[in-house]
Amino acid sequence: MKKSEKLIARRNAIVPEGMGMFSPITIASAKGAITKDVDGKEYIDFAGGIGVLNAGHCPRAVVDAIVRQSKQLIHACFPVAIYEPYVELCEVLARLFPHGQKTKVMLTNSGAEAVENAIKIARQATGKQGILCFTGGFHGRTLLGMSLTSKTGYKISCGPFAPEIYRIPYPDYYKRHDGLSMDQFVDRELKAFENYLHNMVDTSNVAAVIMELVQGEGGFVVAPKVYVQDLHRICKAKGILLILDEVQTGFGRTGKWSAYEHYNVVPDISTWAKSMGSGMPIGAVIGRAEIMDKTTKGTLGGTYPGNPVACVASLATIQYMIDIDINSKGEKVGKTVMDFFKKLQTECNAIGDVRGLGAMVAFELVKDKDPNQPDAELCNALIRGCAKKGLLIISAGISGNVIRVLSPLIISRPQLQKGLAILREELLRLTKS
Ligand SMILES: Cc1ncc(COP(=O)(O)O)c(C=O)c1O
Repeated sequence: MKKSEKLIARRNAIVPEGMGMFSPITIASAKGAITKDVDGKEYIDFAGGIGVLNAGHCPRAVVDAIVRQSKQLIHACFPVAIYEPYVELCEVLARLFPHGQKTKVMLTNSGAEAVENAIKIARQATGKQGILCFTGGFHGRTLLGMSLTSKTGYKISCGPFAPEIYRIPYPDYYKRHDGLSMDQFVDRELKAFENYLHNMVDTSNVAAVIMELVQGEGGFVVAPKVYVQDLHRICKAKGILLILDEVQTGFGRTGKWSAYEHYNVVPDISTWAKSMGSGMPIGAVIGRAEIMDKTTKGTLGGTYPGNPVACVASLATIQYMIDIDINSKGEKVGKTVMDFFKKLQTECNAIGDVRGLGAMVAFELVKDKDPNQPDAELCNALIRGCAKKGLLIISAGISGNVIRVLSPLIISRPQLQKGLAILREELLRLTKS
């Protein structure tokens, strides 16, 4: 029996059923864009631990910072004693992502926790409770995160969910265009949005809208620019805050530090995690100071958020990203993958749609070119087939039929080309009639 098989058997014996598993792959070590399993087999990493490794596995500067800090101070609890890495990381984030004239920042352990806190802040700042979120949206697996999350598969028997959450249709042109041009579609969606503010929830009770500009778990669906800009305008006019969830889109993934830079929109509050710490548990809520300060002492915080070791890992990650110009790497990787997928679509009927922003690129597998006939079976077979050939890749989408690329952005060109070639070979093998 291989070591991997033994480890998987031990995992299955001790870890509960509810824990997801894309494919039975183990990992013992990793560097850059290559992982090694417990038997020494190498994989090209197109998953990046679900979008966490934009700067690659174990960047030298990050490892050194972690080692240095862990010899000096591992834990304090920020409300108990103030340490510099927390404050410095907040300062750096405020400089990178200014929200209005003055910006304030708080740190969290994860993306879900950032979302939880963003909602608590929006509610305290507005004195209102209602939150609008979107179909296809994903905001984490805590109870409030799950309540905001759309995919029912992630929520089976987990309710009752948090109240005062209203879900509106995401402007998904591929699935819902109904033969309209993009302009007509956006117009219809915005009118619908204004209608929801009449007939679904009383506007005067809505604190915020929370949105991913490119839906991550939802399948890399990109919101139209004009929709977002007009939505922001409507929200401002009605005193509704805009929270943008940048947990998956941030830190170079779309070829910019934030997805919102593509939209010329600055949110009132934003949430961050994943690639900001190269895998250390760290997230952030960033917002306009006057909003962030309308919170009562003691309503924010926790034992571990902004742990010193995680903070220095994040500071080193951000500096490394600046040094290597992560955004241009994101743009380049994205263009290569997008061009490759567009060409692959001409070779393979099962690809219904190719889409993305920067290096957040995906294709959707459907039957008979019909957006309403998702092919999750093919998607799973493709993931497992790629794994056998040494490519680590994962799915997304409400129906689990989207193949997404979240490789480290520092991936070398030969590694990227090799990974794409495996993906193509396996897809064509599985779909040849
Ligand atoms: C957009 C978005 N928000 C929130 C989360 C939750 O983050 P975490 O898994 O760190 O709690 C995720 C995770 O995939 C995400 O993609």
